[in-house]
Amino acid sequence: MCGIFGIVANEDFDLGKALIEAGKRLSYRGYDSVGCATVAADRTIDLRKDVGQINAVSERMRFDEMRGRRGIVQLRWATFGTPATRNAQPHLDCDGDMVGAHNGNIVNNVELREAFIAEGHTVRGENDGETCVHAVERHFDRCGDMVEAIRLAYADLNGDYAFVITHRDENRLYAIKKGSGLVVGLGDGVTCCSSDLPSILPITRRTLRVRDGEVVVLWPEGFELRSVTDGSVIAREPEVYHGGMAAAEKGGYPHFMLKEIHEQPQLAGELLHLLDNSTDAPKFVEMLRQSDPLFFVGCGTSYHACLLGAYYVNKLAGKVAVPALPQQFTEQYGNCLGKAASVVFVSQSGETKDVLNAVKVARARGATCLGMVNVIGSSLTHVTDLHLPLACGYEISVPATKTFLNQVIMFLYLADRLGTMTAGAGLVPAQGDHKGAPLHALPDLLARTIELTAPAAERVAARLKAWDDMYYLGYGLTHPIALEGALKLKEITYAHCEGIFSSEFKHGPLSAVRPGYPVTFITAPDDVEMMINHVNEVTCREGLAIAIAEEDERLRKNVNEYLVLPPAGQLLNPILATVAVQLVAYHAATARGIDPDFPRNLSKTLTVD
Ligand code: G6P
Repeated sequence: MCGIFGIVANEDFDLGKALIEAGKRLSYRGYDSVGCATVAADRTIDLRKDVGQINAVSERMRFDEMRGRRGIVQLRWATFGTPATRNAQPHLDCDGDMVGAHNGNIVNNVELREAFIAEGHTVRGENDGETCVHAVERHFDRCGDMVEAIRLAYADLNGDYAFVITHRDENRLYAIKKGSGLVVGLGDGVTCCSSDLPSILPITRRTLRVRDGEVVVLWPEGFELRSVTDGSVIAREPEVYHGGMAAAEKGGYPHFMLKEIHEQPQLAGELLHLLDNSTDAPKFVEMLRQSDPLFFVGCGTSYHACLLGAYYVNKLAGKVAVPALPQQFTEQYGNCLGKAASVVFVSQSGETKDVLNAVKVARARGATCLGMVNVIGSSLTHVTDLHLPLACGYEISVPATKTFLNQVIMFLYLADRLGTMTAGAGLVPAQGDHKGAPLHALPDLLARTIELTAPAAERVAARLKAWDDMYYLGYGLTHPIALEGALKLKEITYAHCEGIFSSEFKHGPLSAVRPGYPVTFITAPDDVEMMINHVNEVTCREGLAIAIAEEDERLRKNVNEYLVLPPAGQLLNPILATVAVQLVAYHAATARGIDPDFPRNLSKTLTVD
């Protein structure tokens, strides 16, 4: 994720304090490292940065003492380059004339870095934010014009990002947007830009949204928007923001849960990019390959990711992975653990006590402990031999959404690599194959899924309002999604909802069906025929059958409601279906007047036994 904020004023002032304040409001976007750069009237650049969260780093590096006329703060969520000081942003150019920072990903970072090194640039780290600075520097050295240099650099820098930079000789900030958010604030004698509105609102309510392919130039009294294509000036009037701070923090969505659901396409792309470039991912896969036995362990939503992960490893790599709840893992398998065993502990927070207890058991028996975790620096990242970050940024809403999605994407990615390694049978990420759409099509498919299913999800949620008891059924790969859909519904509607394997329904639960009784069927394309049998057990008793599936004529004829997923094939289908169950739960909660972000009795992180 990452967050950037830049500000420019007429005179030197206590800039450090303003940057700390803005940084705190952006802290949810990254806490691997933080950096501040200020430029004073005498043209000196003061750059301070270190690994850690804003509170700790700003105190350690005395950001509050920093003064100047303009400044940049960056909060990093590590993707390119480990969380180290050299990779912390902002970055200087070779001679220390410019300083800049970005958020997002430069997908050709490796190639560009090598080119800069070959050209004799002083490249200090591996981070792609530094690449942005060198890209501008290279052109500026030839043309001497910042806008021109940024326009030319834009053509070199592939990926989705927003980027802010300043040259010590001019009291101006330059920022560019491509894919990542960028908002401008226009105050009295001070202007600023940021990844997000909440860091701007304490300064001004006059704002301007920068669009993709635009460069914005900021000086204390004004701004100019320029097209990256031909440098022409773009006219746009600023707006006045009338909403409150809480609404701004939700990015215009009524709840964090909905905001986090909508973040998923972008975050999926960022995760895939991170994995493609990670040096830890191949090590992780090798550890999975060597393990015997292999366990996937997590609680709640994270456990459901473990279940789907086990399916993926079975289907793509022909390997057994045992999904287990932490206590179940200890009680059922604890005695069988040895040095050859590996356990992947999956946790959004990395602080769930049940999970950490199970790590102790696995450690004591000499098993390899691996982690899949969202919060970098959490306990789980310290007690595992190797962990991979889920890179979702801060998840505020209590029901986990985006972190579950990145967990299952990570499992699919690893299983694919494991399969390629062991049997040459993996998905081919860039091309697609008989198993369906390629893994890297996921960001677009997820965006399409939101578009396609949102109206139907709202309609179905309204129909579920009358019921306090229902079932979610999945078959094979979609069984974990049925469990997850049922959990989401239970968490935020307070209704009872059970997720089960669809073929088990006839072995007991079927007795609950009566006219109108809602049963949701989630099916991947290859399992439709089987699922139709299970649907008919419900419809012939006048139950309400709701399908979540790719378009299928046979299924359509047999159900009462249909949430259509874009065609993506067997393996990606459960990931897309996740979005549909999240949206149904969200709308079911709001239809009942419940705030889905903070459901009663629950806590985001459970650090108790
Ligand atoms: C709590 C939360 C759940 C979450 C579970 C595991 O029960 O309410 O939403 O799935 O903990 O949390 P973790 O942080 O370990 O993934």
